[in-house]
Amino acid sequence: MHDLKKIKSEFLAKLKGKVNLSEINQIKSNLFGKNGLISSQFKKIGSIEVSRRKKFASDLNFIKDELQGLINLKLKELENVEINEKLEKEKIDITLPERPFVRGRIHPVSQTIDEISSIFSEIGFSVEEGPDVENEYNNFTALNTPDNHPARDMHDTFYLDEKKQKLLRTHTSPVQIRTMLKDKPPFKIIAPGRTYRSDSDQTHSPMFHQVEGLHIDTNINMGHLKGCLSYFIKEFFEVKKIKMRFRPSHFPFTEPSAEVDIGYEIKDGKIIIGEGDKWLEILGCGMVHPNVLRNVKVDPAKYQGYAFGIGIDRLAMLKYGINDLRAFFDCDYRWLNHFGFDPLDVPSNYRGLSR
Ligand code: PHE
Repeated sequence: MHDLKKIKSEFLAKLKGKVNLSEINQIKSNLFGKNGLISSQFKKIGSIEVSRRKKFASDLNFIKDELQGLINLKLKELENVEINEKLEKEKIDITLPERPFVRGRIHPVSQTIDEISSIFSEIGFSVEEGPDVENEYNNFTALNTPDNHPARDMHDTFYLDEKKQKLLRTHTSPVQIRTMLKDKPPFKIIAPGRTYRSDSDQTHSPMFHQVEGLHIDTNINMGHLKGCLSYFIKEFFEVKKIKMRFRPSHFPFTEPSAEVDIGYEIKDGKIIIGEGDKWLEILGCGMVHPNVLRNVKVDPAKYQGYAFGIGIDRLAMLKYGINDLRAFFDCDYRWLNHFGFDPLDVPSNYRGLSR
């Protein structure tokens, strides 16, 4: 009995003091380990005189429970301290103001493509895409531009193989072919994207952007083409009146073909669209050639329609007062910060295209 009391008082004192986790584990094993103080007392039970044995066992159990309870309590306490310390260290002060981080800017060409898509989707066009690497058939042959056709020379094509089978598309018109091969008429699509020609100076870049338009149905005529384009130009430049002229032109894949100029003037160094007596060419268009329709198994006796190809970079330059085409592709961060758009300002015809 004396032993037990001693053990108890000794360990009570220890547990009351400041102990850390490894110390408490040490205490635990000193008491309850294989040869621990309490464990060895239990081994003694059998050798104790019968008259005292019962009391000894019950006292021993009592002390064991008490010490065990205290140790568990202490362990919990230490665990809580540890958790609290961790919480304190990893605390995030949500009342702090947002850190001013740099949000990227949308490139004016991307913005212009979004605006164009929004304008055309209002009148029922959907958006198609085609690859930059095209085959010669989609880019030329199917578009009524067979081998040795002089129009091929006008395109300054980047060929990708000796046999001239693969190339970087010289216009977005091959998407007309892809769309018509894939689906059944009617078709009403636009196809924006990158195009390539081996041409580089102040107003030409070897990579530039076009948006193709294609509308094929059973009752489409040139009046629809005119109406569609004048709607587009007015919406795009956000003006009520526009001066537009159709000049006869030639493309192998349209007949008749036209190029469209818009009227503008320069006032106080600023370009004003829709007024004045200067003309700027912005697109090529025409009624889709029956041979093109035949090539994609669309019956030209039943279906006809128009197509157009607009130069996107030029439109963006005009609208946003950017006077050097090369700046578009310089990747100058300062330029992008100045001319770029907020990524959350998605253009829409209702909210306004550009603000
Ligand atoms: N693909 C022509 C070009 O790049 C433009 C165009 C498209 C003309 C569709 C007519 C019809 O010059």
